[in-house]
Amino acid sequence: MAGSKKKGKMAARKRAAELREALLEANRSYYVLDQPTMSDAAYDRLLRELAGIEEAYPDLATGDSPTRRVGAPVEGPFRSHRHHEPMLSLDNAFNADEMREFDGRVRRGLERGEEGEPVRYTVEPKYDGVSASLVYEKGRLAVGATRGDGGTGEDVTAQIRTIRSVPLALHPGGGRAPARLEIRGEVLLPLERFAAVNADQEEKGLPRFANPRNATAGSLRQLDPAITASRGLEFIGWGVGAVEGRRFASHSDILEALKGWGVPVSRDVAVCAGIDEAIAAHQEMEARRDRFPYELDGVVVKVDSLEERDRLGATSRHPRWAIAFKFAPRQETTRVREIVVQVGRTGILTPVALLEPVTIGGVTVSRATLHTAGEVEAKDVRAGDTVFVQRAGDVIPEVVSVVPGKRTGKERPFTMPSRCPRCGGEVEEVGAYTYCLNSSCPDQVRGRILHLTSRQAFDITGLGTKKVDQLLAAGLLAEIPDVFTLAERRDDLVKLERWEEKSVANLLEEIQRARRVPFDRFLAALSIPGIGATVARLLADAFPTLEDLRGAGEEALLEVDGIGPELARSVAHFFAEEHNWANIEKMLAAGVEIIYTEKLSDELAGKTFVLTGSLESLTREQAGKAVTDRGGKVASSVSKKTDYVVIGANPGSKADKAAKLGVETLDEKAFRKLLGL
Ligand code: IVH
Repeated sequence: MAGSKKKGKMAARKRAAELREALLEANRSYYVLDQPTMSDAAYDRLLRELAGIEEAYPDLATGDSPTRRVGAPVEGPFRSHRHHEPMLSLDNAFNADEMREFDGRVRRGLERGEEGEPVRYTVEPKYDGVSASLVYEKGRLAVGATRGDGGTGEDVTAQIRTIRSVPLALHPGGGRAPARLEIRGEVLLPLERFAAVNADQEEKGLPRFANPRNATAGSLRQLDPAITASRGLEFIGWGVGAVEGRRFASHSDILEALKGWGVPVSRDVAVCAGIDEAIAAHQEMEARRDRFPYELDGVVVKVDSLEERDRLGATSRHPRWAIAFKFAPRQETTRVREIVVQVGRTGILTPVALLEPVTIGGVTVSRATLHTAGEVEAKDVRAGDTVFVQRAGDVIPEVVSVVPGKRTGKERPFTMPSRCPRCGGEVEEVGAYTYCLNSSCPDQVRGRILHLTSRQAFDITGLGTKKVDQLLAAGLLAEIPDVFTLAERRDDLVKLERWEEKSVANLLEEIQRARRVPFDRFLAALSIPGIGATVARLLADAFPTLEDLRGAGEEALLEVDGIGPELARSVAHFFAEEHNWANIEKMLAAGVEIIYTEKLSDELAGKTFVLTGSLESLTREQAGKAVTDRGGKVASSVSKKTDYVVIGANPGSKADKAAKLGVETLDEKAFRKLLGL
């Protein structure tokens, strides 16, 4: 008896070690290498298995086990933490002239004349988050602290531990860990998470966060780490403080070492010979600003050589070797002409401010959301007010606040209408929202169709706002299933203004290709109130098929982790409505094919892929996900064990290596075919 118990424990110890290693690798591949090797569902399965083992054998649980990210709530106030090396702030530059002045100061400091060799600079994104210092002792995360006044910050270790991209122990890939290492970087909330956090705040009747930075600061200063964990913060390293037992020659070296230790660093670091290249890098990143998943407010330009940095030194506040080169501001002031109400795809009535057009970060803005009637009231925004308007990433512009002191007394307050402003139908108030109850309301239909074509649903880029409006006006679209029967209306399509044979053929071909979708994206396409991409994924993981989900009552839905009473009600209610189901049946009859996770998961089981070069129709992330969704693995380097090397445009040395080892290669077309995309 005792013998078999011991054997059981030995097996458990071995399995626990395997699981920890697999989870550690999965995190590193996802956050550091940008090559996902495991789906979220698979990660959660392994994590649950490990938690099960640690529960059965508590002494097998290690302090840096991935199950140990969330601890018990701490008591406030936070303890203070003295930084070993101070955290300075940065001087700012707003234009190229100021950057040339900075370069002049650097050159003089290094005694390099006008004609001398250019200074080597690195240029990386300046993330608009909250800076933090992570102290690793003998390779293990000992303390996580905020910047504070630069000398002393707050100890937020329990909160920092919940950030999945922060390694609890340094990965051996970076070489021997220093006895003590302060890693400096930015805690961030990705824009997508920021929107979700605010939606959640609204649902709970709590105030929205004004921007991702405030939401990050608020999440980090939660006494209960479980709340911090739920927000989905990330960390990106941008430097080091005190380092004991390791020397670096340059900033590029530091970033390389951090990456090796499993700490995410920016993928967009440009190494520049001289200030002109650095200025060009700033311009290039500003042009791409909206494509970053985080809010950026500029770039940081740093002297690369650490020996040169030492010679330049610092003033009492900033280093002389670095500067923040800011982007154009994202907030402007303008006047609200009128406040109107817009009807969304799920029937929500949203107050929208119509503005005197204003350019924000290079984009003209003439409308901004006010979110809910409660928000209008809380911010006391009235028609005629001068307001601050903000735009961040792809997020819809929003009114931040009224500019004080600009009121004349002639402003008109807003009231939510008692009937739908579009169809005149009845409305109902549910929590913070007012809904139009008529699901055939033309604005709801339009919103649903546009959403169905979006990236998180069927991803039909050829059907944008203009085309959808044209098709609605021509009576060629009346509900979402009509998108999939457009091929039957080819003759009507070619007669439309500005449509030609070629563009019709392209669109129909694209729709044909988009018909096969994973179950979660199918669910996300249905515009079920409250069900976005994230919740759709939870549902698709919990229920094997659409029939199972349809048959599940509120109670079964509530069993799913992450689904609360409101969402459960929303889903059950949606499937109980006859016309919703009729729409789904029409879509399926028109050739829409749902790919279930089960069916996907074995297709590529045991196959290892390496991706190199860029693909035209998929980002690296999408390609990786398509492989892992089907049970395959994505590796970062080619070996004899690699099954396929996918070769895009401008491939790296991996393509040569594949040829040398005789590994099968796929071009984009063959890759898509293999995956059924
Ligand atoms: S380097 C000696 N690099 O910007 C200070 N800072 O305004 C070295 N920040 O407190 C800072 N992204 O929180 C550096 N890539 C980056 C950054 C970055 C964001 C923040 C950081 C710092 C603030 C200064």
